[in-house]
Formats: sequence, structure tokens, C-alpha cells
Amino acid sequence: MDRFVIEGPVRLSGEVRCSGAKNAVLPLMAAALLTRGESVIRNVPDLRDVRTFMRLLTILGVKCDLTEGVLRLDTTAADGIEAPYDLVKTMRASVYVLGPLCAFRGEARVSLPGGCAWGPRPVNLHLEGLRALGAETDLEGGYINARAPRGLRGGNFRFEPSSVGATCNVLMAAVLAEGETVLANCAVEPEVTQLVDALIGAGARIEGGGTTTLTIHGVAALDPLRCRVIPDRIEAGTFLAAAAMTGGEVTVQDCRPDHLGEPVAVLRSMGCRVEETADCVRVAAPERPRSVEIVTRPFPGFPTDMQAQFMAVLTRADGTSHISETIYPDRYTHTAELRRLGADIRLDGATATIFGVTGLSGAPVMATDLRASAALIMAGLAAAGTTTVDRIYHIDRGYERIETKFAALGGKIERVSD
Ligand code: UD1
Repeated sequence: MDRFVIEGPVRLSGEVRCSGAKNAVLPLMAAALLTRGESVIRNVPDLRDVRTFMRLLTILGVKCDLTEGVLRLDTTAADGIEAPYDLVKTMRASVYVLGPLCAFRGEARVSLPGGCAWGPRPVNLHLEGLRALGAETDLEGGYINARAPRGLRGGNFRFEPSSVGATCNVLMAAVLAEGETVLANCAVEPEVTQLVDALIGAGARIEGGGTTTLTIHGVAALDPLRCRVIPDRIEAGTFLAAAAMTGGEVTVQDCRPDHLGEPVAVLRSMGCRVEETADCVRVAAPERPRSVEIVTRPFPGFPTDMQAQFMAVLTRADGTSHISETIYPDRYTHTAELRRLGADIRLDGATATIFGVTGLSGAPVMATDLRASAALIMAGLAAAGTTTVDRIYHIDRGYERIETKFAALGGKIERVSD
């Protein structure tokens, strides 16, 4: 198993290029199942989750090729309907094939995802939404069976709470359902809007893209997809936070500043100087950040996927900070590891109180999930001495060559294999 060995403290400085967004490409890959022929998706990051999704699509009969950021998905001979447990258990986003298979093939069998490191993570809204479009669903042997032998028909459904995954899944099903579908309280994360745009580009009739109400007029067939994946706002935010963590100066290139509104506002409250151009954000951080209050919320609020990284920054803040996690109240497994580096954090339900300390010191720590891993690397770069981060397979799921990118910014970080 690989681990990172990090020598700190360093002050990160320089420029780094943002990759395509993991959370945008996965639903796009699933959407290819709604079409016959070769879909071409550009700016695709080479990540473990993308490779896992390619394996899943291959099992479903799709010919997949990822070369230099261009992903070709040929569905001409795709005839499978089952997403097996072995894959779903390693990547919950596999559940994205449920809606497209049900709509296109009239049948799907998808292993029910279990919980994850930060809580139960139900899929009830995915199923209720599909049922609103006329699908029959049941659970058998740990698998969701969904059937619509005579095709789906339009219907009305409201997501409560707002859900990225359920919005994508039900939207993908609705584009081929007969008649009109109205989906209310849809997630408006940029990854959802990218899916809406890509489906419209393939011939879908969708109104309300970028808003919480989507009206879909079903069409009989779609063309293969042609799209370019949006920049990964979570990766971009991670590097900006890393600048704040280390008192450094970092420019993230090829990103979308309009997708980073809240995190940038928080960085400014921390005392960072932030400059934006059309596709770059530059952060110049003070020696020590100021304490702040963060509440995670659906987009355009502060993303839960940056909560761990910003908590890492706040461990070094001048003063006491609070974080309230409203999306996943248990998403705090990283706090125990940050404490091993000298952080002073108190948890009370879904609220964390972070008492800033003047310095962290290196120690062996363990990555518990994808974004927690990024937080630990950042903390390791700021801590005095050696930090080893174990179980970094989590990070390879969602960050492209993170150690190379941190090293280019002056980080002393090395991947070591046992
Ligand atoms: C996606 C992201 C994940 C991010 C999360 C929240 C992908 C592949 N993953 O996950 O990185 O942390 O959005 O921004 O894009 N819920 C239900 N019932 C459901 C579905 C969700 O109650 O059927 C609840 C969840 O428990 C959670 C909230 O809705 O409290 C939001 O979750 P959701 O947006 O669905 O997260 P994912 O799509 O799984």
C-alpha cells in the first residue's frame, strides 16, 4: 500500500493547473448509456474513480478508451443491465447507471450502495424519483431492481433534501421518458448544470438549467455526447486552501472563479489577498490566517467537499473558529488525525470548534476518505518535521497526480510504496 512522506514546514508558492472535475465526469459517463454510438468527453482527469467507472461501463458492454484526457465511450454493443456489488462498493457513484439503464433499456440491476466513512448516505430519492416516472423498483439480495418494460413516462418530483446524485439520476431518466417531467428543488451544483448542458447538446429538451426547477420534455432518442469537462472546483479550492495553510502564494490556472465564490469569500475573511481573472485565482496568504465561521451548504454555499481542507487551515488560525456541517453531520473523521498533528478541535454533534495553535508537528496519520486525505497532506506540509499519510488510495480516487502538483509548488512530498 502506498503512503506519502512529507517534510514540513514549507511555504507553497507558484502556479498549478486545475484538472477536469471528477464529480462532473462520472454522471457524463453514465449519460453515454442513454445513447447509441460513440460519445467523446474531453478534459477527463485520469483518476481511480474514472477508471472504476470505465470498468463498470465495460461490464455493461461499452467500449471505453481514455487517452490524453479524451474519453471515448462506444455504446454500439452495450447490452448489460447489471452494476455488480464489487464495483459499487468501491464507488458509490456507480448508482448513476440506474436512471440511464432504466430509461434506455427498460431494466436495471444495481447493487445498493452501503454507507460510507461519514454516514449512511441513502439513495431513497433516486428510487422515489424513478418511481415518479413510472419505474417499478424492488430490493433483492442487496440489489436494486428497476423496471419500466413499456418505457418511462413524465411525472413530477421534488427532491428533499437537495441531492446532486438523485437530481442527475432522475434527470437522465426523464430525458427519454414520454411527456413532460417537472423536477423541483433540484441541486444546482455546477456538475449538475454541466450534465444539463451536455444532455441538451445531445438533443434533450430541458428548461431551467442552473435553477432548482427543471422541466424536461422527453425525446425518443439522443445523439452521442460531445462535451468538455468543467474544471474541478474542489481541487482548485484545495490548492487555494493549501496556500492559506502554509502562508504561501498560489495561483490556480484553468479554473472557474464563478464556481469558487464561497471558498474565496472565506479565504478573504481569513486575511488572504485573492485576485481573480477569467480562469485563474491567486491567493497570497498571511503568516497565520484569521479565525472564521463556516457552514457547509448546497451550492452556491460552502461545499462539504472542502470542509476538511478548510478545517486543516483553521487549526493554525489566530483565534477560535467554528464549522457547522449541514450536509453530512458525521463528516469529521479527519479531526482525530489532525489532532495527532497537534490540532486542538472539539466536536459537538455536527459542529466543530477549532482552537487555533501556533504550529503543528509532523506525525504518522491515516487517510480516512478522499477529502480528508487532502486535508492531511496540507497539514503535513505545514507541520514541522515528518508526516506520513497512510492509506492514500483514497486520494487517488479524486486527485490527479496530487504529489506532483504539490511538489511543483515547493512541497516536499514523496510517494512511497511498501
Ligand atoms: C455528491 C458528491 C459528493 C458531495 C455531495 C454533496 C459526487 C460523485 N459526489 O454526492 O462528493 O460530497 O454530492 O455535495 O458527485 N440524500 C438523501 N437521500 C438520497 C440522496 C441524498 O437523503 O437519496 C441526502 C444525503 O444524505 C445528504 C444530502 O442528501 O445529506 C446531499 O447528498 P447528495 O447531494 O445526494 O450527495 P451525493 O450525490 O451522493
